[in-house]
Amino acid sequence: MNSILFFVFICEFLIFIQTAQIVKLPKGFLKCKQNEPNFNDCVLEASNLAVPELVKGQPKFGIPIIDPLRIINLQINQGHGPVSIKLNFTDLDIIGISSSTVSDVKIDFNTYQIKVKLYQNAPLTLSGQYAIDGKVLVLPINGKGPCNLTLYDFKEEVDGHFEPIEKNGEIFWILKKMKFDFTTSKLYINLENLFNGDKNLGPQMNIFLNENWHEILEELRPAISDALATIFTQIAQRFFERVPITHVFPKK
Ligand SMILES: *[C@@H]1O[C@H](CO)[C@@H](O)[C@H](O)[C@H]1NC(C)=O
Ligand SMILES: *[C@@H]1O[C@H](CO)[C@@H](O)[C@H](O)[C@H]1NC(C)=O
Repeated sequence: MNSILFFVFICEFLIFIQTAQIVKLPKGFLKCKQNEPNFNDCVLEASNLAVPELVKGQPKFGIPIIDPLRIINLQINQGHGPVSIKLNFTDLDIIGISSSTVSDVKIDFNTYQIKVKLYQNAPLTLSGQYAIDGKVLVLPINGKGPCNLTLYDFKEEVDGHFEPIEKNGEIFWILKKMKFDFTTSKLYINLENLFNGDKNLGPQMNIFLNENWHEILEELRPAISDALATIFTQIAQRFFERVPITHVFPKK
């Protein structure tokens, strides 16, 4: 039902598997031994120490600045149902990822799976340019201009499935699949310049969108989850293809 076309500036991540050099973890990066009794607590602490460092961008790891995280182009084509729209975002900044707290991490060395739960201490804003055309709950909508979508009490669950590969005697975890789920207590929507800047219809439509945010978000949820999963896949992949798994989690 939902089809999503997705282009991100940082998209050639797969070729790094062949070309990337092993990168040493920064000093102060907490390492957790796989056989440590409090392994999960150690990983949780390490993750929360790593977040403020990662969001600044880590060129060594090929990781861009993550707060704000700029998405050059994101297209949502939702063909059916109460919300049937073509929605294009360009130069969309995701602002606020630095306020993430990791609340839970589970790493399974037998199934090569990493599950992470995070929540945002501050609202998460998507700010950039939009173009929309279609219908939202029977009302026609079209326009293009600046937009601001803000998500309150955003909580994420990321579930990564990896496959180990050996390269030069080291084991790397290669990301195969990532699932991304989220909850929010409210989505605020502001689309400027709707209907060619019509002074009545535009503001009215924004009021309507905000009154119906819940239904709209549920309709767009699969597309948004896919989009965010793609972004986080790229970031995780860039890290794990440069750092052998035993450098992050020594066997003992
Ligand atoms: C979104 O972008 C695509 C490709 O550039 C284009 O074909 C489509 O018409 C755009 N949709 C809107 C609503 O601007
Ligand atoms: C987006 O809207 C929110 C809620 O009104 C506001 O707090 C935030 O400053 C806005 N951000 C931008 C970049 O316009």
